[in-house]
Amino acid sequence: MLISLDRHVAYSSPLLVLVLVLSAMHGPVWGSTLDVDYGGVPLWINRFLGEPSVLSLRGRMDPSWFRAVNTQSCPSECECPVQWPTALYCDHRALGELPAELPARTQYLFLQGNQLTGFRPDAFANATGLRWLFLDRNQLLSGRLDAGLFSGLTRLVNVFMNNNNLTEVPMGLPAGVRQLRLAYNHIEKIPPGTFENLRNLTTLLLQGNRLKVVGESDFKGLSSLSLLDLSGNLFETFPRHLPPSVSQLYLSNNSLVGVEGGILQGLPGLRYLRLGRNILRDGGMEPGAFNLSSLVELELSYNQLTRIPVVPTTLQYLYLEANQISVFNVSSLCREVSITAYSRIKILRLDGNKLRPHELPADWAMCLRVLHHIYI
Ligand SMILES: *[C@@H]1O[C@H](CO)[C@@H](O)[C@H](O)[C@H]1NC(C)=O
Ligand SMILES: *[C@@H]1O[C@H](CO)[C@@H](O)[C@H](O)[C@H]1NC(C)=O
Ligand SMILES: *[C@@H]1O[C@H](CO)[C@@H](O)[C@H](O)[C@H]1NC(C)=O
Ligand SMILES: *[C@@H]1O[C@H](CO)[C@@H](O)[C@H](O)[C@H]1NC(C)=O
Ligand SMILES: *[C@@H]1O[C@H](CO)[C@@H](O)[C@H](O)[C@H]1NC(C)=O
Ligand SMILES: *[C@@H]1O[C@H](CO)[C@@H](O)[C@H](O)[C@H]1NC(C)=O
Repeated sequence: MLISLDRHVAYSSPLLVLVLVLSAMHGPVWGSTLDVDYGGVPLWINRFLGEPSVLSLRGRMDPSWFRAVNTQSCPSECECPVQWPTALYCDHRALGELPAELPARTQYLFLQGNQLTGFRPDAFANATGLRWLFLDRNQLLSGRLDAGLFSGLTRLVNVFMNNNNLTEVPMGLPAGVRQLRLAYNHIEKIPPGTFENLRNLTTLLLQGNRLKVVGESDFKGLSSLSLLDLSGNLFETFPRHLPPSVSQLYLSNNSLVGVEGGILQGLPGLRYLRLGRNILRDGGMEPGAFNLSSLVELELSYNQLTRIPVVPTTLQYLYLEANQISVFNVSSLCREVSITAYSRIKILRLDGNKLRPHELPADWAMCLRVLHHIYI
């Protein structure tokens, strides 16, 4: 059940303005944004998965016509759109090998959906202009990626290697890389020094792998990292030694039982923390574990909590659906209530717990003064 509040009236008399919308279990709307300025590559960004997918030009043009009118060299396995000469489309054609003689003009190389397992060590030697490299949905093996394979690609910024067979994070990526997408591989290891050079990396996707621990120097060097997705791995304890610059940390769908006090203080810029679908229990949540005033969003859904954990009053979005919460204790959200002391929470999800709307304590609206939506 969603209860929408007119927040000004709610402060004086909440019960009069409860609007009960019978659309139980409706999640927030996860919108898609059309982003057209990734070097001319139209991308649908799915904000829920954090995964863009490329709208290939294929299917919207006749390849034989373009081959006939295009005077530029083009590997026979690929398509070279005449109106976009820096792009090379070699995706979804069952390639087991990289086409020989990549044109030196290539900046966007589409190789997703093939059967590549690796490359010759000099495979990219002439592709020094490469900026975007799409290798999603191949069968890349760590043993077939030479450490020097990418090192000459000084203009490379975005590397997509989701859904492959990698067991280690690839070594030797050039220092200019900003996005590295390695989701849904079999990665269990980060070789020493892997990230040492990658000072410009802001996005690192490692969800759906087999990582269990983070060693002290595993992420060393990532001084600009902002988004780190470690969902769907094998973590049993909240990882330490994460880059302090991280502002979005996703650890959903692991096996975490708790969050130690003080562990988030090592992440002073953390704004979005997702810990849903773990096995978090009250006993594992140390008091003050979430005492971090930078936090904007905290997701704890699908766990085993029976109480609302203590959260900072600066928090704006709190997701606690599908736990076993039976008590609504206002002091978890507000230590005190006064003119200036109140919770900044705008959206609070408590649906799928053992609470009912009439069980809200009398003082809840004094604390949740700027609430927009509560789901119970
Ligand atoms: C790179 O270019 C040189 C000169 O055109 C050529 O001899 C060589 O085979 C090319 N290497 C690859 C890997 O394409
Ligand atoms: C990659 O992994 C899939 C299963 O995840 C397997 O079917 C395939 O044989 C593997 N490919 C290689 C080259 O090991
Ligand atoms: C890293 O980013 C900065 C700022 O955008 C840029 O000036 C610099 O050239 C980049 N470093 C590399 C190695 O590309
Ligand atoms: C959770 O992760 C496992 C692999 O660790 C995956 O098989 C499963 O689909 C994930 N579940 C969700 C809901 O994402
Ligand atoms: C929360 O952190 C602040 C400063 O970081 C500290 O002063 C306060 O005592 C902490 N509160 C709890 C309950 O740990
Ligand atoms: C609410 O939590 C506070 C602090 O944890 C505790 O002292 C108080 O007894 C709790 N109130 C109820 C009604 O459970």
